[in-house]
Amino acid sequence: MELMEGLLTRRSVRRYQDKKIDKTTLEEIIKAAQFSPTAHNKQPWEFLVIDDKEFMADLRHIQRWTSFAKDAACVIIVCGDVDKSFNRDKDDEKWSFIDVDCAIATQSLMLAAWAKGIGSCYCGAAPMQRVVDTLRERLHLPENIRPFAIVPLGYPAETPKQPEDRYKPEKIHWGKW
Ligand SMILES: Cc1cc2nc3c(=O)[nH]c(=O)nc-3n(C[C@H](O)[C@H](O)[C@H](O)COP(=O)(O)O)c2cc1C
Repeated sequence: MELMEGLLTRRSVRRYQDKKIDKTTLEEIIKAAQFSPTAHNKQPWEFLVIDDKEFMADLRHIQRWTSFAKDAACVIIVCGDVDKSFNRDKDDEKWSFIDVDCAIATQSLMLAAWAKGIGSCYCGAAPMQRVVDTLRERLHLPENIRPFAIVPLGYPAETPKQPEDRYKPEKIHWGKW
């Protein structure tokens, strides 16, 4: 699939065929995500691939807008390593680019999946603290690993409607506001 076509046609897919995604395909999708840009090129991400049906069905109790994840082929939890991200933790300066890096990787992952005919949906974890804490506990993640997004993936069993044109020329400010 051509890049521009992928960017314009990817939609959230929430209904999936009962069909596994093979490991090589998942590796290629995650590889694409790992080519994303990151602040200071820190690449602070980790990807947890889960196909445990019990956990996937239970996800809606952890993050309430994930009820469809139970029918996915798998979910990928995109995580960030807080010790590896580009950050400052001083009295006068406190910031971290970890969520930005993970968000970009999540989008790359979904686009790579789409290019292979696989549907997905970004489901937020961070910055919802209760979701982050519960995922960390349930998945036995170390303290430095921040679960950022939950991405159910599967071969589509629906063709989501393409939105009316999202292009809004009035949102572009040429040279001055
Ligand atoms: C940060 C973020 C969190 C989201 N969380 C959820 C979610 O929990 N459940 C869900 O069904 N969709 C979720 N979405 C998907 C959005 O609803 C979807 O991207 C939006 O409606 C636009 O539709 P599209 O992806 O088909 O273009 C999330 C998207 C983003 C970017």
